[in-house]
Amino acid sequence: MKISIPKTMATLALPLAMSASITAAATDGGIKVEHLGTNNTLVRVEGDGRYLMLPVQESNDDATINVLVDGRLDRTINVRLAKAKTDYSVPFDLSPYKGHDIVLNIVTSQNRASVREAKEDACWSNITLTDTIDTTNREKYRPVYHHTPLYGWMNDPNGMFYKDGEWHLCYQWNPYGSKWQNLSWGHSVSRDLINWEHRPDAVLAPDGLGMIFSGSSAIDTSGSAGFGKDAVIAMYTSAAASQVQSLAWSHDNGETFTKYPGNPVLTLESEARDPNMFWDAERNIWVLTLAHALDHEMLIYTSPDMKEWTLQSRFGRGLGAQDGVWECPDLFELPVDGSDRKKWVLLCNINPGGPFGGSATQYFTGDFDGKTFTPDTDAEGNVPTKWLDYGKDNYATVSFSDAPDSRRTVIGWMSNWQYAAEVPTRQFRSANTLPREIELFTADDGQVYAASVPSPETEALRGKLTQNVGRAGIGKKPRSYALPSANDGVCEILLDIEAPKSKNVTMTLGNKEGEHVTLTYDVAANTLSFDRRESGITDFSQDFPAVTTTPVFGQNGHLELRLFIDRSSIEVFANGGRGVMTNLVFPTVPYSTLSLKSDGGNAKIKNLKIYSIGI
Ligand code: FRU
Repeated sequence: MKISIPKTMATLALPLAMSASITAAATDGGIKVEHLGTNNTLVRVEGDGRYLMLPVQESNDDATINVLVDGRLDRTINVRLAKAKTDYSVPFDLSPYKGHDIVLNIVTSQNRASVREAKEDACWSNITLTDTIDTTNREKYRPVYHHTPLYGWMNDPNGMFYKDGEWHLCYQWNPYGSKWQNLSWGHSVSRDLINWEHRPDAVLAPDGLGMIFSGSSAIDTSGSAGFGKDAVIAMYTSAAASQVQSLAWSHDNGETFTKYPGNPVLTLESEARDPNMFWDAERNIWVLTLAHALDHEMLIYTSPDMKEWTLQSRFGRGLGAQDGVWECPDLFELPVDGSDRKKWVLLCNINPGGPFGGSATQYFTGDFDGKTFTPDTDAEGNVPTKWLDYGKDNYATVSFSDAPDSRRTVIGWMSNWQYAAEVPTRQFRSANTLPREIELFTADDGQVYAASVPSPETEALRGKLTQNVGRAGIGKKPRSYALPSANDGVCEILLDIEAPKSKNVTMTLGNKEGEHVTLTYDVAANTLSFDRRESGITDFSQDFPAVTTTPVFGQNGHLELRLFIDRSSIEVFANGGRGVMTNLVFPTVPYSTLSLKSDGGNAKIKNLKIYSIGI
């Protein structure tokens, strides 16, 4: 039977039901289990069923599962097979092997005193065969309108492209568990950047060269790489003992990819990853930016055919934030202040070393001559450090290639390596940020900065207008407004404030449990801070409770905010995306009120609109 993936919305990324209730004895249920030793077991598939459900216990170490097809090793996957209890099960799709003998040769990591002890592991009696997987959502914190994987772990968005009216979002995916492992490219497709259809299978899965790490895709309109005109070409990092760069192409708009037999096409003697390429139409050549991770620099290459690459320059040593590894670059040109003047932007994700700890996206503005990126400097001749988002949960931000209308649409991974594997979800982990448009503006200090504006498509999320306030004063005493209750309170808030005489304006999102998020506009400092220390569940990591602060580039105490609240995230866009913070939150019950107060002088609400969201 076929798994049917409905035309879903972002939210309908549904996890698998637990299969722990389905039992399979040692030699029935179509599965034969033979214990060979204290840590080695053979599982023979004798019955029918599309999926072999593998029971997972997250706190266990990975077991190595060698999949033997007619006695030959087909592939190896790593799964945290259950020992004491089954947290959830993951499907191993048997359909590609129909008509063949399948044996899993499993090496577990547990130390066992005897085979008898090994036999007692929960996984052996809970491995089952099934034709369908139940994808009903059972996760309280699964977002309603942000993209999440159908199940399993997700990190970076990668290989994103636009073609024939569709946005393609690939992502780092573990189909066999909700922690980082077995890195593959998952794939979701959207016509409107909001409603995503999930493709059930990984489009690129690990092979003899390693796992499939991040990379990019581009449309080869001229067929320069020899894979055909208009082929979608993905370049990614094959990661095993070494990190090398590989190619794959698709003739069906990314539904399936064929790996280039000549891989790898680019190797170095040190860690380098996340190739990001684009066609330089002015110079008729491919340009590639590659993160030289531990050396804290980006390498820039060119190639006529994506196979032979020439190193043209290196950028970054000693510049910007240097604390962590440099990862996931992106290089593109945009107009400044909507004028004819243009600048290049080099996105350079780093981890750790973000402004509030852990992962973050820094960027440089500058010029690019086809070979070398020259960064902008300040009045003293220094290269300023700039951040795309001052929250803790926007990482690996990169753009869609070939987007229409010269748009530079980006998506980030809405988490942080500090705690991504510990957040209180189970059958999936991590969501993406909303899509955002990058725009360049010149600030009062003369520097060019990048604003991130929610993509226009996000306006379609607006449901009922539940609050519409024209004008209201804000003083010392909090003024409160109810948030919508539909859909666990997910909503968009538009707030326009005049506070030239105020010291601080505080905006608090709270629930009946006393959990809250406090946003504080510091008028003199021209900053907005986001305090999530008492936002709900915070104790899964000591790095989670935090206060983050962004510059807002406001004028005369004017602050205009757009807040997007989903079940476990808040995205704050201040002053047209000039100040941005993305932070996860896990309230035990939804936030139900917004209250505002002003200290050190009165302020005014010029406009407040709250929309429910119900896709
Ligand atoms: C960034 C990153 C990339 C790498 C991928 C592996 O989050 O570390 O550099 O390609 O994740 O999943």
